[in-house]
Amino acid sequence: MTTRTSRRRPLAVLTALTLTVGAALVAPGAVAATAPAPDDLPTVTVVATGGTIAGRAAGRDTFTDYRAGTYPMTDMVSVLEPEVSAIADVDVVQFGNSGSGGYTIAQYHALTQAVEEALETSDGVVVTTGTDTMEEFAYWLDLTVQSKKPVVISGAMRPWAAGETASEAGVIGADGPANLLQSIRLAAGQQTFCFGTVLMLNDEIHAARDVTKGNSTRNDTFVTRQLGALGWIDGDQVYVQRAPARVLDCATDEWFTPFDLDEVAATELPRVEIFYNYQEAGREAIDAFAAAGVEGIVTAGTGAGGISSGPGQARRAAVESGIWFVSTTRTGSGAVSGGGDGIIAGGDLIPQKARLLLLLSRTFTDDIEQAREWFATIGGSSFDQSAMAGVVSPVPGGEVPSPTPEPSAEPTAGPTTPPPGGEPGGEEPGTEEPGGEEPGTEVPGGVPGGEETDPASEPDAGEEAPGGAVGGPGSGSGSGGLPALGAETRGIVLAAALALLVGAAAVHQRRTRSLGVPGMPRGLGR
Ligand code: SIN
Repeated sequence: MTTRTSRRRPLAVLTALTLTVGAALVAPGAVAATAPAPDDLPTVTVVATGGTIAGRAAGRDTFTDYRAGTYPMTDMVSVLEPEVSAIADVDVVQFGNSGSGGYTIAQYHALTQAVEEALETSDGVVVTTGTDTMEEFAYWLDLTVQSKKPVVISGAMRPWAAGETASEAGVIGADGPANLLQSIRLAAGQQTFCFGTVLMLNDEIHAARDVTKGNSTRNDTFVTRQLGALGWIDGDQVYVQRAPARVLDCATDEWFTPFDLDEVAATELPRVEIFYNYQEAGREAIDAFAAAGVEGIVTAGTGAGGISSGPGQARRAAVESGIWFVSTTRTGSGAVSGGGDGIIAGGDLIPQKARLLLLLSRTFTDDIEQAREWFATIGGSSFDQSAMAGVVSPVPGGEVPSPTPEPSAEPTAGPTTPPPGGEPGGEEPGTEEPGGEEPGTEVPGGVPGGEETDPASEPDAGEEAPGGAVGGPGSGSGSGGLPALGAETRGIVLAAALALLVGAAAVHQRRTRSLGVPGMPRGLGR
């Protein structure tokens, strides 16, 4: 059940009055500067779902014996007064109050709609959940929320209090109050506008796509393996040091994913499961999933995605019956490339995130090649600034360099460089490769249509429209080479491209990723 509690006006007015009177007593001339009027404060909605952050402990010194999802969020926000009302004008939606693991995919659908509804009027949303499946909540919201406003997800590793109410008998060293306050600060500050959903816990900010729970009990449980956090919060200072690649699309509608849940009912979301591989795994789990009517299965394979021969046989049979597979690795980081008939390469998505993208892909298309493209683009979002080369001056003074001569040598390593993680892990005896087909027949990154683009055979970039014109898809940008353009062609292209610089680059960026340029680096944020 969702209940919305507006606590904005009275608290904000009260705080403003307090600040105004206090400031007037101390420094009459500074009142206007130090006491923001209520309407000047950013508005933040906290959408609460429960978890340890709302947990009631057996005692103030008890971190592990508690009942999650107990205190209502309005009471918890009140504990943060008056400080929180100096940061934002906060209201609360009590979406639910239970452990994170109990939520269904149908409830995820409703959560997205609750967040979107809140963002119609609020400047940002904080979602509180249990940490156990917080990374799944976060990635689901990242994939589905149709708003560029900040969405921050948070929770706690220690319960909030041990009393009857949230304001009594606070647990010693509880991390919930600080996590909630700093998440509201982050959402209010707009620093992550266009980042999609980010996770904030233990003063660290992580991208929803990349973050994972790395420890069962520690306060610093959330990690982004290989890449690291996006930033952190020290006191009232927010530091954001890197960004998901989708920020480059901020100025355009390319930013939005195709997964608009207004278009589908919760009942239309199909069942998608995960199979975990290990030494001499049996085929029964995949057979049982297939018999249960699932529409997709993610395999958490060994190394670069290998599965044992039993499940490999079961997968082939399941593909015959129309089930889609996504191949991922159980290692916790690194990419799986390749793919094959009925099998999509999961890139560097961890299995539980790949499952959500597969579930949404099956919901929004019947075309596996479309889904393959979504995994390579939305799922495998990566930075590629090659479109700027030759358009933006690399040195002070604004001079755009003259065309780089066509390389005389054979096309270099870019398109043929083995993908991260090397070849799918099919070398072990008794282990199936993703796709179960001959090596060399698959397409790096899952290019739609299953055909590899040869950079050398692409049309001259100057023939293309502005936006895709310079260093465009297939022009060799993935391998670092620039197209050789005639001076006249380059002049026309530059005039158009400079006029449309930001927007054109964003469109080009997305288009490059959509086409899955071979050799394109993958796996940096989203
Ligand atoms: C849960 O995920 O609901 C319990 C664990 C937690 O919140 O840390």
